[in-house]
Amino acid sequence: MKFVFFGAPGAGKGTMAAKAAAAFGFPHISTGEIFRGAMRDGTPLGLKVKAIIESGGLVSDELTIGLVRERLAMPDAAKGWLLDGFPRTIAQAEALASFCPEDYVIDLEVTDAKVVERLSGRRMCRSCGRSFHTRFMPPSKPGLCDDCGGELYVRDDDREESVRVRLENYRAQTAPLVGLYKARGTLVPVDGESSADAVWSVLHVVMNRLIAAEKA
Ligand code: AP5
Ligand code: MG
Repeated sequence: MKFVFFGAPGAGKGTMAAKAAAAFGFPHISTGEIFRGAMRDGTPLGLKVKAIIESGGLVSDELTIGLVRERLAMPDAAKGWLLDGFPRTIAQAEALASFCPEDYVIDLEVTDAKVVERLSGRRMCRSCGRSFHTRFMPPSKPGLCDDCGGELYVRDDDREESVRVRLENYRAQTAPLVGLYKARGTLVPVDGESSADAVWSVLHVVMNRLIAAEKA
């Protein structure tokens, strides 16, 4: 099945999509992670997007759509996928509908206060991209990833000024997609305010039900 994980910066898209990938076996495809991987490796793509991402802006629709289209054509995505961070503009939503329409959009609903609290304490693994939080999800050993032992770092776009720009972009360009998905009947709102374990226990039941209904 094909799920889009949708929501504001810091809503928990990456955290919940990683749990869903482990539980249901669909590949977790995060456009943010693809861009950060390219920046880390210093590829032409990484060099192109670095300044835009660090300032909190959005990468162009043309580039992002092409990248996702190629990724979804890979063999591991044939039986389904979990898209995290895409679509985030009307043009991206329309493009996805034209080449590989989603079944459901999991909309993680959170307040702005939560976003700021979560992003200010986030630590990401440089090697595997897993995210931790200094208060809500601390790693077992400070500064090191529980999964791969990689070094944890603060994302450049988690600085206060970039978070403000990301929230503005979210409100102006991404939030309007909620109306579009409601009209399509694919929107599944999930309360994302409580702890990660509590959000996941609700989401797990919701996804199980949707997957079972598809198989019936
Ligand atoms: P992207 O990486 O997608 O960033 P984002 O949308 O801003 O979202 P985040 O990754 O910041 O938050 P999240 O919702 O994944 O939260 P997380 O699970 O980490 O994109 C980065 C940039 O790439 C964009 O700004 C743009 O420039 C570019 N880009 C990407 N896609 C693009 C596209 N389609 N078009 C154009 N440009 C694009 O959780 C946050 C923190 O909270 C973590 O510390 C976590 O441990 C903690 N946490 C999570 N859930 C909970 C919970 N329930 N309770 C307590 N803590 C929690
Ligand atoms: Mg993320």
